[in-house]
Amino acid sequence: MCGIVGYVGHRDTKEVILHGLKTLEYRGYDSSGMALMTNGEIIVEKKAGRIQNLEDSMSDKNFASEVGIGHTRWATHGVPSDKNSHPHYSMDKSVAVVHNGIIENYQTLRKELEDKGYVFASDTDTEVISQLVQDMYNGDILDTISKVLKKLEGSYAIGVLHKNHPDELICAREHSPLVIGIGEKENFIASDVSALLKYTKNVYYLEDGDMAVLKTQDIKIFDKEKNPIEREKKSIEWNLEQATKCGYPHFMLKEIFEQPQVVEETFNKRVHNEKADFSDILSYEDIKHIDKIYIVACGTAYHAGLQGQFALQKIAKLNSATDIASEFRYNDPFIDNKTMVIFVSQSGETSDTLAALKEAKKKGALTVAITNVVGSTISREADKTIYTMAGPEIAVASTKAYLTQITIFYLLALYIAELRNSISKDEYKKYISEIKNMPEKIQHILDNSEIIKPAAEYFKDKTSGFYIGRGLDYKIAVEGSLKIKEVSYIHTEAFASGELKHGTIALIEEGIPVVVIATQRELIDKSVSNIKEVKARGAYVISVGFEDCENLKNVSDNFIGIPECDDIFSGFLSIIPLQLLAYYTSSAKGIDVDKPRNLAKSVTVE
Ligand code: F6R
Repeated sequence: MCGIVGYVGHRDTKEVILHGLKTLEYRGYDSSGMALMTNGEIIVEKKAGRIQNLEDSMSDKNFASEVGIGHTRWATHGVPSDKNSHPHYSMDKSVAVVHNGIIENYQTLRKELEDKGYVFASDTDTEVISQLVQDMYNGDILDTISKVLKKLEGSYAIGVLHKNHPDELICAREHSPLVIGIGEKENFIASDVSALLKYTKNVYYLEDGDMAVLKTQDIKIFDKEKNPIEREKKSIEWNLEQATKCGYPHFMLKEIFEQPQVVEETFNKRVHNEKADFSDILSYEDIKHIDKIYIVACGTAYHAGLQGQFALQKIAKLNSATDIASEFRYNDPFIDNKTMVIFVSQSGETSDTLAALKEAKKKGALTVAITNVVGSTISREADKTIYTMAGPEIAVASTKAYLTQITIFYLLALYIAELRNSISKDEYKKYISEIKNMPEKIQHILDNSEIIKPAAEYFKDKTSGFYIGRGLDYKIAVEGSLKIKEVSYIHTEAFASGELKHGTIALIEEGIPVVVIATQRELIDKSVSNIKEVKARGAYVISVGFEDCENLKNVSDNFIGIPECDDIFSGFLSIIPLQLLAYYTSSAKGIDVDKPRNLAKSVTVE
């Protein structure tokens, strides 16, 4: 989704903005641009396509500037093009605006402005903001912006320059993320902290309705009514190295290989004296009356939720259901004050998840966020927040965040099980030790990652494939299938193996790859039968199972072994070869693995 950066200070503003835009690339974009305040004028440069196009077009231009804003655009209104890229000037070029979000009433506002004689240069919703600032300008920029914002419906994070205020950067947010970076004689804004890490770790997270005016030595934050307000200064723990590739060809591969470490860190953060411990977040009082848990999320986070549901039911013996965030509101969920709703979101900014969270809160549920980003909107909205310890996840396709979400779910299930007395001491001990051993076992799979390459070579020339599994394995199949779709553009479908005969087997034909996940020991024979059925129709079977599972190995064309563990934890391991399969297939096809087409890392529009 769109990314915003802004700078006021003594450095080369163009370079600071370009750096910020590059770090925000991972969010997904189709064009980029920047506006610089130069000699009392605002210069705007913008280009469709990669940031390199913008950089090239600015390479021979030397703009001395102390204030600037930049933007990566992910098209919503108007095709990706130079003219639709941000920043948007007002008609007289006195104003430039960058915007993340959607102005829902822009057509009405545009019509009103056109009736007054304003001519629009783009097809975007954003341009109404810059035109309104010109139209309503009264000499006091804060007052003007506050009046403009009152006319807008929808979501926004904005950065604004006005030529009559050449040393000021103005910003505001409503339902779209925006963070202020606090420097020495310089200040910054950005959609997320990765754009700031090179310069500062001290930040203010703006909240809905906040506006701010930044100068070189000064940051002032206001509410909607222009009353000065204070926001808590936060310090970011992530470092720049975590946000760079460290010699890996792609962030996705680096993040896959970081999984032993991030699972261990998440475990260490939550396990004290061999006990899962969430007592700083959820007390016995909080959960003793809970009789139902909903887990709500999107995409990969939703798939982590499916495993979470499995863990909560198997270990904590709690009635649990998982729903897709964009559907949750329409399903009239049965929520009362005995319901806990867990929202899973790596970014903590996903609009659908946030909207579902607000709905669940309204209905009286205890809301719990599992997120990776400290201070994110979802973390602030939820009653309780549990942080995963994945560090910055830059690749669009989620890998390490997913595994830390799963780690949290299993540990949370153990914590609740103990509080509610629904687990024996022996089982508890065994399960903690299973999770503790996961980093080493994941590392073992990664150390042997070469064995996955032949399967990727096979997959790369196919247009379609299937992922199947039973029980827990099905929940891994859906994530494996999404992963390869996202980064290799091969159409795949995941379904429960038992559903094969109920329709999908009609699609099995000569040479089609079928990935079978088969780790549930009691179900292996059934999976072997399914393999025989698809092989009889010409499928090429790639299977993932425990290393010693000879009967699975014997019927597969390509067998990928994972280390032994208790069946209920196999999802920690079986997903790793599937992530690698997606990665290797993508890179064998020469795809831009970290930034697959049409996708955005942080989906901040519904
Ligand atoms: C897939 C992927 C997406 C996200 C989804 C939710 O690899 O990354 O499916 O999982 O957009 O994002 P978050 O977790 O930020 O709410």
